[in-house]
Amino acid sequence: MTTLYESAYAKINLTLDILCKREDGFHDLETIMQTLSLCDDVEIDVQTGKEWTLWCDKEDVPCDSRNLAWKAAELFEQHSGRNLGGVAIRIKKRIPSQAGMGGGSSDAAAVLRMLNRYCGHLFSEMELADLGGRIGSDVPFCVAGGTCMCEGRGERLRRLPAMPECTILVCKPEFGVSTPALYRTIDEKEILRRPDNAAMEQALKAKDLASIARGVWNVFDPVVSEVHPEMNEIRDVMQQCGALGQQMTGSGSAFFGVMPDAQSAERAAEQLRRRYSCIFICKPV
Ligand code: C5P
Repeated sequence: MTTLYESAYAKINLTLDILCKREDGFHDLETIMQTLSLCDDVEIDVQTGKEWTLWCDKEDVPCDSRNLAWKAAELFEQHSGRNLGGVAIRIKKRIPSQAGMGGGSSDAAAVLRMLNRYCGHLFSEMELADLGGRIGSDVPFCVAGGTCMCEGRGERLRRLPAMPECTILVCKPEFGVSTPALYRTIDEKEILRRPDNAAMEQALKAKDLASIARGVWNVFDPVVSEVHPEMNEIRDVMQQCGALGQQMTGSGSAFFGVMPDAQSAERAAEQLRRRYSCIFICKPV
């Protein structure tokens, strides 16, 4: 038996634009994603000689073949032609679910990276990312990590210059958002404001944190904020504490602020903790 370990990093969408609805029901996107230091710990035993198992320290996470980490191991076994000889997966969860932070996708991506390492890098990073696309739209980015422009369903990746060091404050309100329902809602609305992805790329290239933060924009943010006024409360606290830019990530409901320093992040976190229990101060990785 061999035990493998990996951190599964959370993601945020610095920008998210929806270009069109496709014939397959998915939407073509242009989104710049960034991994954060907030992570789950994923461990796998391979060649256990026993039935497959999955353990997670959070009760609401499925511990069977519905879990994306399990699906990733199954897919890897099928595509590599290697017999993993019984797999036991253990996940220590820190990334909140229903947050738009790629919680399940990052666990799946960590499993793919670990198994690929175990098999002597059978697949290139891009081949592995492609394989991940069969599990979910965010898995390819989670395989690659860092800062990327993601197009198509999210599977066409182009690496961008790394985001400069900074403090990112994340607050996840209690409510969750159904991703398919949110896509259906936005199909019926006119998108009034879109992110300027070219300007964001320039800002990343120039390592200009103030311009990066000013440029964050997610077309889903106004749609969710309209129905959930908590979003505007969180936005106000972050702004009052000096955030350089702030918005919802992915299909929500986590909200992040790019903070000028650790002290202002702590000040905002302290205020938000009076109302919200799921708060993280992290860094881009
Ligand atoms: O691929 P994933 O399982 O993350 O997608 C969840 C849902 O989000 C899809 O069933 C679809 O309704 C919507 N989606 C979409 N276009 C994308 C990504 C997701 O419509 N590019």
